[in-house]
Amino acid sequence: MQGVSGYVGNFTAEIRRKARYVDPKVCNACGECSKVCPVVRPDEFQMGLSSRKAIYIPFPQAVPCSYILNMDDCLGNNPIACGRCAQVCEKKAIDYNDLDVVVTRQVGAIIVAIGMDAYDPTEMDEYGYTRFANVITSMEFERLICASGPTGGHFVRPSDQERPRRIGFIQCVGSRSPRTGRPWCSNICCMNTVKDTLLLADHYPDTESVVFYQDIRAFGKSFEDMFQRSREAGVRYVRGLPGGIEENPRTRGLTVVVDNTTTGRIEKHELDMVVLSVGVEPPRDRNKIARLLTLSKTSDGFFMEAHPKLKPVDAPTRGVFLTGCCESPKDIKDSVCQAGAGASRAGALLNAREIRIEAITSVIDPSACTKCGQCAGVCPYGAIRWKKGEAASVVEAACAGCGSCGATCRFGAITMRHFTDDQLIGQVRAVLSDRPGEKVFVFACNWCSYAGGDMAGISRIQYPASNRVVRTMCSARVSEEMVLEAFRCGAPVVLVSGCHYADCHYINANRQTVHRVQRLWDRLERAGVRPERLQLEWISAAEGQKFARVMTRLEEMRRKVTPEEIARTR
Ligand code: FES
Repeated sequence: MQGVSGYVGNFTAEIRRKARYVDPKVCNACGECSKVCPVVRPDEFQMGLSSRKAIYIPFPQAVPCSYILNMDDCLGNNPIACGRCAQVCEKKAIDYNDLDVVVTRQVGAIIVAIGMDAYDPTEMDEYGYTRFANVITSMEFERLICASGPTGGHFVRPSDQERPRRIGFIQCVGSRSPRTGRPWCSNICCMNTVKDTLLLADHYPDTESVVFYQDIRAFGKSFEDMFQRSREAGVRYVRGLPGGIEENPRTRGLTVVVDNTTTGRIEKHELDMVVLSVGVEPPRDRNKIARLLTLSKTSDGFFMEAHPKLKPVDAPTRGVFLTGCCESPKDIKDSVCQAGAGASRAGALLNAREIRIEAITSVIDPSACTKCGQCAGVCPYGAIRWKKGEAASVVEAACAGCGSCGATCRFGAITMRHFTDDQLIGQVRAVLSDRPGEKVFVFACNWCSYAGGDMAGISRIQYPASNRVVRTMCSARVSEEMVLEAFRCGAPVVLVSGCHYADCHYINANRQTVHRVQRLWDRLERAGVRPERLQLEWISAAEGQKFARVMTRLEEMRRKVTPEEIARTR
């Protein structure tokens, strides 16, 4: 997909169909072209363990089952220099002048299922993945033991094509590893290794397998049973991750030293082969898709759902659904469940005669609009239509109601239903109409900070009662004017609080909060007001403790603000 415009129920998608250079309707997959092709390249599908030609079938189960020509690999980028494949093709299926085609489709919903990538262990040099031929990844193991793999399912060592007798598996390579910037659990590696050990025990009963692990996470249906079967089959599980691997250059055997944390002993294992159980990474082209569909990402880089419990397959952008590992690492069963859920959600949307949306959306007064277009620049959903010289307008079906545009517009042309400027400033004035100097004034976003306050309440956590909270849907709805009004009304301390930076429920709207608060700090400083009197905090719905801590701290701060300071800001 190279372009998307529109909104829920009414998207226009531009899809690039790449040139195949071989007509799949004509090609009968006889393979004569591939036989005469002189170009040899590593086969990506076989993880580089075998080779392919420049004209090839991408993988055995490919649909349609026909050849494609990789023009980047084709001789000299100038097929006229060779042309052998076209000469031998009796069906005349090869066309060197084929071009990419961009097709446009009107669609009502979009399902994102771009999967994940496997971790590349090259940077973990201690395991010698690039130095030792017999250190392979779990993905390469799959190809080696697969009947359609490069060895026809015969499991052999890459160094000498001999069958290994002692095989080690190292878990959590690129998972649960803050050192490599990947603190998350990849979810699938433990059971994948258990399955691999069972496959080995089944195919080659005389093989010795040893698994080095920190925890075995066998939490799915029948998974514990499978783990026990692996142990009963003689697989040894050693709790501890090796610090490194050494190779004997003569035998190409591998030595692994590990601190067995169960026995408290240092163990030395002589192995023929080591399999690195590599973790799962967010897909590498996620940023492009995120930009196209205005998706947000969690701090680990996977796409963020609209709500982790109540809307686990909906993206924050209406009409877009997330399925599979692009949302988080998951196994086949969970991926299938989520795919079914995503398809059902999309089907329900497409079958609906009309779409119900929240009434909390922005409204633009065209007569007050100065046509500056700033609102369009800050809308995380692309829900504001604006052209140079024209008044902006809101696509209500696409607007999610963060209020960022309303807080940005300095001309009062935008407001938000149910959270209008007048309503919010009215609340500020009402709260601070009586003894304002005794209050800590708080703007809290609906989804996290306000819920964090609720959590503190239902958990019976004690904190000073001086705070007064005004709720907005997102912290991005809080305009500079609202904060300044609170100071004008005599608030000693004002807090703007929202979801954690990468967790804003309106994609990345709280970035605008940060920019706005930074501008306010500058303005306050220039006006001779201590900027610390305006605070910015990220408090999640689960952080009742943090909410109470922040309120206690702000109360201490409030006590130190002098009446003269308050008078100056008033
Ligand atoms: Fe909480 Fe945006 S929704 S800060």
